[in-house]
Amino acid sequence: MSTEKILVTSALPYANGPIHLGHLSGAYLPADIYVRYQRLKGRDILFIGGSDEHGVPITISADKEHVSPKVIIDRYHELNKKAFEQFGMSFDIYSRTSLPIHHETSKEFFLEFYNRGILNKTKSLQFYDEKAKMFLPDRYVEGTCPNCGAEGARSDECENCGALYDPNSLKDPKSKITGQTPVLKETSHWFFPLGKYQEKLEKYVDEMNKKYGWKDNVLQYCRGWFKSGLQDRAVTRDLDWGIKVPVEGAEGKVLYVWFDAVLGYISATKELSIQLGKKDLWREYWQGKDTKYVAFIGKDNVVFHCIVFPAMLMAWNEGDKEKYILPQNVPANEFLNFEGKKFSKSRNWGIDVIDFLKLFPADSLRYALVSNLPETRDSDFQWKEFQARNNSELADILGNFINRTLTFVHKHFEGKVPQKVKLESIDEEMLKLIASYPAKVSALLERYKIKDSVQEVMNLARAANKYFNDSEPWKTVKADKEKCAATLYVSLQTIYTLAELLEPVIPFASGKIFKMLNAEKTLWDKCGEENLPAGHILNKPDILFVKIEDEVIEKQINSLGKAPGEEEKEDDSISIDDFLKAQLKVAKVISAENIPKSEKLLKLKVDLGNEERQIIAGIAKSYTPADILGKNVVIVANLKPAKLMGLESRGMVLAVETKDGKLNVLNVDDSVEKGARVR
Ligand code: MF3
Ligand code: ZN
Repeated sequence: MSTEKILVTSALPYANGPIHLGHLSGAYLPADIYVRYQRLKGRDILFIGGSDEHGVPITISADKEHVSPKVIIDRYHELNKKAFEQFGMSFDIYSRTSLPIHHETSKEFFLEFYNRGILNKTKSLQFYDEKAKMFLPDRYVEGTCPNCGAEGARSDECENCGALYDPNSLKDPKSKITGQTPVLKETSHWFFPLGKYQEKLEKYVDEMNKKYGWKDNVLQYCRGWFKSGLQDRAVTRDLDWGIKVPVEGAEGKVLYVWFDAVLGYISATKELSIQLGKKDLWREYWQGKDTKYVAFIGKDNVVFHCIVFPAMLMAWNEGDKEKYILPQNVPANEFLNFEGKKFSKSRNWGIDVIDFLKLFPADSLRYALVSNLPETRDSDFQWKEFQARNNSELADILGNFINRTLTFVHKHFEGKVPQKVKLESIDEEMLKLIASYPAKVSALLERYKIKDSVQEVMNLARAANKYFNDSEPWKTVKADKEKCAATLYVSLQTIYTLAELLEPVIPFASGKIFKMLNAEKTLWDKCGEENLPAGHILNKPDILFVKIEDEVIEKQINSLGKAPGEEEKEDDSISIDDFLKAQLKVAKVISAENIPKSEKLLKLKVDLGNEERQIIAGIAKSYTPADILGKNVVIVANLKPAKLMGLESRGMVLAVETKDGKLNVLNVDDSVEKGARVR
């Protein structure tokens, strides 16, 4: 085996809110599939994740809740960690940037640059809110973009046209804290000379692309940045949440969150090494010449991973310390929308991962998301499509093939893999097909064509169902048992292959399938072989995928855009099952009398065909005993017995109230049998 190591990172999400499905589609699910696949290939790989716990938005959340930032990051770090676990993310570590080891690592980088004179200390004018008495971070200022004229542009960057500019050129600035027009006040910051690295960076991107084939969308973003020219970037901020700038004269300043965040990948790997009791293990990955480093991110992170982070590493590498490797590939995805719009917490548009997984299995979500990955352009999550992927693909195609095969083998072959005495060409073809799959799927996964790779595997499941149908084992079991045995032998090998090829995508179901097969997974390259020998004992089949009902999906669609709780108020519909809980039956009134001292009540005796009972009915103001006697009324037969005026009442007579307050008892004619159910 080669000595190549693989290092995979997924963007560190801000510990400032729960992750939603869009995050999963961007930087997490594709990475997890890639990593699980590489592990099956037998590769030496580390998968690094964690929370990004600095930055202004966290301080904004903390201010809003009147708590310290620590409360916010602890809450969301734990929540997101749990959500990722439930989703099946197989990180080797899920670390956090508030750890001391991360602070040390970030300071080490800053000081290295500082001491070598790489950073330029520059005085600049920054927006200052005189009412709030603080320098305003970029996100606290809003104005009009000097490039495209869009309103609501941030102080140094326009989300509309993507332009980056000097805060001084922002038009009509307003402080988001007080709404006042901020003043420009002098402050000094350290700048990283990104501009100096432009040429080297262009060469780097070009070379990586030539060797390893970068995605078009990523190249486009990079070229866009290069074209407009890289600007030097401040790596410090006037703020009190973050990593203190470790030099004199930097009071009240912290490292800019993006400077430290990308280094979080390195510090998390160090943390993992310590946990594993091999303190220097991280060096083998980050500083080993043979490591292939792949960074999975969403498109909004491209500049930081393809330009800023590599430039930082280049700068480090120009010194005399151990050198770091640079990302070999950055397979960034575009965005996932939700039912046609952007995810939005404030508009209740979208669903958090943790909430989703309370309702549906992780594998169903993983499969639906991977089938619709925004690999080349934005894509859209739709509830109906989610339901269809689960019901018509996972359950009807994959689940069905596995279930019918195993059920058949238990019924006709004592739950053991049958002998293959007689293979016909249809069987040979099928074996050839599964043998061709590992390489075929590998080729796609190695090029980060994750969506295509999964579709390819589902095609195998489709072919397997067709093979089973065409072979008609339910006929051959009587006419030609050896042929039947061949069909089931081949079908079982196919299940094994599917279980392994799908392990990266639906790991929970894959585990169940291996359990049913009473087998272990093998190396990826061998999974298309005949892995289950004749005579091998199988376990009983178990349900793999449960179908999702229309009502369940409707409920989700109806709650879109509404605040939690609001949907219950609006939707008071009940299911048919709820309605059928009430046993409404036809009963004949066989006696009726007034109750002394009661104006409202009549004492009735009714006949339900096989039983008689007493009902005290509040209808005396509208009916005399004679009026009601002999009528076929409708009663609620399973109402809890009650006592009225000391008399037992078992059931309730249904009536409607007319406009003038009279009651009109529901009755049916004599042709209806006593005791008949109304429904
Ligand atoms: N927290 C950033 C985001 O959610 C991603 C940071 S990736 C990092 O956009 F590695 F650089 F931390
Ligand atoms: Zn603009």
